[in-house]
Amino acid sequence: MKILNGKELARKMRKELKEKISKSPEKPGLAVVLVGEDPSSKLYVNMKERDCKKIGITSKKIKLEENTTQERLLDIIRQLNEDDTIHGILVQLPLPSHIDESVVIDTISSKKDVDGFHPMNLGKMLQGRDCFLPATPAGIIDLLKENNIMIEGKEVAVVGRSNIVGKPVASLLTAENGTVTVCHSRTKNIETILKRSDIIIMAIGRPNFLKGNMIKENVVIVDVGTTYIDDKLYGDVDFESVKEKASWISPVPGGVGPMTRAALLKNTYKAFLKRENR
Ligand code: GUN
Repeated sequence: MKILNGKELARKMRKELKEKISKSPEKPGLAVVLVGEDPSSKLYVNMKERDCKKIGITSKKIKLEENTTQERLLDIIRQLNEDDTIHGILVQLPLPSHIDESVVIDTISSKKDVDGFHPMNLGKMLQGRDCFLPATPAGIIDLLKENNIMIEGKEVAVVGRSNIVGKPVASLLTAENGTVTVCHSRTKNIETILKRSDIIIMAIGRPNFLKGNMIKENVVIVDVGTTYIDDKLYGDVDFESVKEKASWISPVPGGVGPMTRAALLKNTYKAFLKRENR
């Protein structure tokens, strides 16, 4: 079994970006908006800011109280849309329940939507057009391709159908000519689907769900799960149980997470290069 080492690949991608950015007198700017006190959101935002700093992207953190009104948040986003020093805008999800996430995402300029969550970008992605790809799905594709794992012609199971991982990654894997089955809580024959799959993408947020007896020999497993229990991070894959059978596994931590952050940096740089087209 070989490790899909996202940590190492993300480091290489940051190095390449840093070199490109260092040649430009003007610097890319990313606005990171955090509403409330969710501990994992705080952690993710801090890591994204640290990544920016390492490679020469100026990050502007906007921390808002849990009880911030939707209208106030929308006003802040509209200001960021108009701000020429800001090329990318990221609103960390989930938002407090009194705020409608769709309205917030729709308000971010699609040209600054470096998370790739705006319907304009998701629509273009479905059509295979140039756009900002959502960070985790883009990171997963990079992780497979950079390790020379062929997607074309493969049976791929995507377990989970969220808007930010399952649905978009299924679309990207189809564009790469994989034969994709999306599984979810109402899927009846998940065992049959998993057993025939050459590649499995786990994105349901259920710690240690995937076991060795559910997979075939030499399967490639990508673990997108991130569940904290008593400050320890668990993926959706029972690593010990699958490691003898799988050919490749992305570990948690150190697999998809760093790739997601690297994809965000790539998108921010892309937004910066396109800044004249505002
Ligand atoms: N919450 C979980 N994943 C993400 C992500 O990729 N971007 C943002 N903004 N929020 C998230």
